[in-house]
Amino acid sequence: MKTLRAVNHDARDGTECNALDIPVIGLGVWMMNKPGECYDAVLNALSIGYRLIDTARSYGNEAAVGEAVRASEVRREDIIVVTKLRRIHATSYESAIENCKRSLDLLKLDHIDVYLVHAPPEDPEAREPVWRAMEDLLAEGSVKSIGVSNYGINHLADLRSYARILPSINQVELNPWIQRPQLHDATRAVGALTMAYSPLARGQKANDVDMALVAKKIGCTGPQASIKWCLDRGAIVIPKSSNYSRQRENLDSLGLDISDIRAEIDMFDSNYVSGWDPTVEP
Ligand SMILES: NC(=O)c1ccc[n+]([C@@H]2O[C@H](COP(=O)([O-])OP(=O)(O)OC[C@H]3O[C@@H](n4cnc5c(N)ncnc54)[C@H](OP(=O)(O)O)[C@@H]3O)[C@@H](O)[C@H]2O)c1
Repeated sequence: MKTLRAVNHDARDGTECNALDIPVIGLGVWMMNKPGECYDAVLNALSIGYRLIDTARSYGNEAAVGEAVRASEVRREDIIVVTKLRRIHATSYESAIENCKRSLDLLKLDHIDVYLVHAPPEDPEAREPVWRAMEDLLAEGSVKSIGVSNYGINHLADLRSYARILPSINQVELNPWIQRPQLHDATRAVGALTMAYSPLARGQKANDVDMALVAKKIGCTGPQASIKWCLDRGAIVIPKSSNYSRQRENLDSLGLDISDIRAEIDMFDSNYVSGWDPTVEP
């Protein structure tokens, strides 16, 4: 699987503090809450070649993710597990540390590969102490890489003023219907990668008729064209599917060449937010 290098840079001099190779496609596990659903989906995904799993405390399935990672025949060191500090826990230094430890307990893993602040803490005063906790978790080795999610351009600019270590990743909604070139650039400017969540707009665009028509021209499906479009933007992409054949379909996007239809896909941009959008909050 192709990987991208996620790097945490020193905020003062831009030197690399650490680097982690992240597979460009991963499995998102939000809304996998039926008994056995998340465990089965993760185990199957790992068996067919996925090596990146994106969960969060708020998804309520860290335990199932950890169980599947441990049960898999794939070596732990070959799997990247992403989880996130829940917004209601992003209130203070102590709460961030405590909740990372709780996630480790639920996952039953000895480290988290990528730990993200799920969204900018609602209290702006909490943003600096929460990020300080992230830096300390990185220094002590509980997490291998630290990043953010749903940080807008202003949140990233603000983070520069208090961070000692810059984030390796900004996970945001990104897909053909919400292309966010300025946010993508601002993310790159802090040395981070964009991780594109909801590449199918939470499934709302999975059966989009216009996309299907464009995709048909090169013999792929609409979801595959959407996912490959995100990859070609230089983002890591984490489609969710509990269905084994759709997991395979999504993974197969990697081998597509969408250059003949890219210009048409570029036209789909409509700033379409499928759910929440904390990037625009103060
Ligand atoms: N940081 C954040 O705030 C945030 C927010 C949202 C999501 N995320 C992460 O990003 C991941 C992906 O986003 P998402 O779950 O919102 O939605 P998504 O990946 O855009 O779409 C998932 C939906 O599309 C369906 N689907 C998947 N592949 C398909 C295909 N090839 N053909 C037709 N339908 C398909 C899935 O159903 P089936 O399962 O039945 O296939 C599911 O209903 C999440 O799971 C989560 O890990 C993060």
